[in-house]
Amino acid sequence: MSKWKGIIVAGGSGSRLFPLTHVVNKHLLPVYDKPMIYYPLTTLMLGGVRDFVIVSNPQALDQMSTLLGDGKRWGITIVYRSQDRPGGIAECFRIAANDIKGCNVALALGDNIFFGAGLPRLLLEAMAQESGATVFGYEVADPSAYGVVVLDDGGRAIDIEEKPRNSRSRLAIPGLYFYDERVLQISNEIGPSARGELEITDVNRRYLAMGDLRVRLFGRGVAWLDGGTHRDLFEAAQFVKVVEERTGLKIACPEEVALRMKFIDQSAFERLIDPNPKTEYQLYLRSLLEASPLTER
Ligand code: G1P
Repeated sequence: MSKWKGIIVAGGSGSRLFPLTHVVNKHLLPVYDKPMIYYPLTTLMLGGVRDFVIVSNPQALDQMSTLLGDGKRWGITIVYRSQDRPGGIAECFRIAANDIKGCNVALALGDNIFFGAGLPRLLLEAMAQESGATVFGYEVADPSAYGVVVLDDGGRAIDIEEKPRNSRSRLAIPGLYFYDERVLQISNEIGPSARGELEITDVNRRYLAMGDLRVRLFGRGVAWLDGGTHRDLFEAAQFVKVVEERTGLKIACPEEVALRMKFIDQSAFERLIDPNPKTEYQLYLRSLLEASPLTER
């Protein structure tokens, strides 16, 4: 089994998306043609992660597991853990302590969507590092809603701040983080922030202080979107629609990623396809079998 475990943070109240989230957990809402959680799940799968812990609020866990199951059909394992109250992103390490002990951890926020040709290489590089932590920097117009990294003239990280009012940098840190096995210990040592949560930014600051934080820039070749507000959600859906219609390829299709990553073989993939496909999604899966060569796209 791989030493890397994936955590997907899919809890919270989704208050900014109310009333959409009154009944449905934010991460189950659609982003165009798929549930939001498919996007971070497949991002980590593209890096090679095969063992997942999904952390969500107790009310949503049943629906999450109905949707995703134990992962077996996609050649992965998924277990579900409950975050009983919004205790922050970094609390998820404590919640998943028994699952991640002694492992490296790739953590993705359940509402973060990544797309781009450069992405798989960045993921593989991050996961090739056994020690330290890797986070990414992405230039945004308004960094005040994010964790932000400040670089010196030589491009070395010198500070990280959470949602700074007057930021010294426009490099936001997306919700995709790679840590060595010390992350569990670090999450046990940090205390809650002013808003009463265990902040992922405080974990990153600890790695920075130890001189063990790598910051890689996404550059223009990678798109980063999230589904935090109605507007974000709408724009993310539009983005997915435009790319998928133009290319005829789907973003974040777990069946396809499982096949391309060789987590499942062709016959296992064929078993996932309805023999009488009636939905557009099933027709897409079928079309992948007819395309050749499959692994090169
Ligand atoms: C969280 C993190 C922040 C990060 C952001 C990415 O913020 O605290 O550091 O940049 O996710 O989406 P949230 O959106 O949960 O407030």
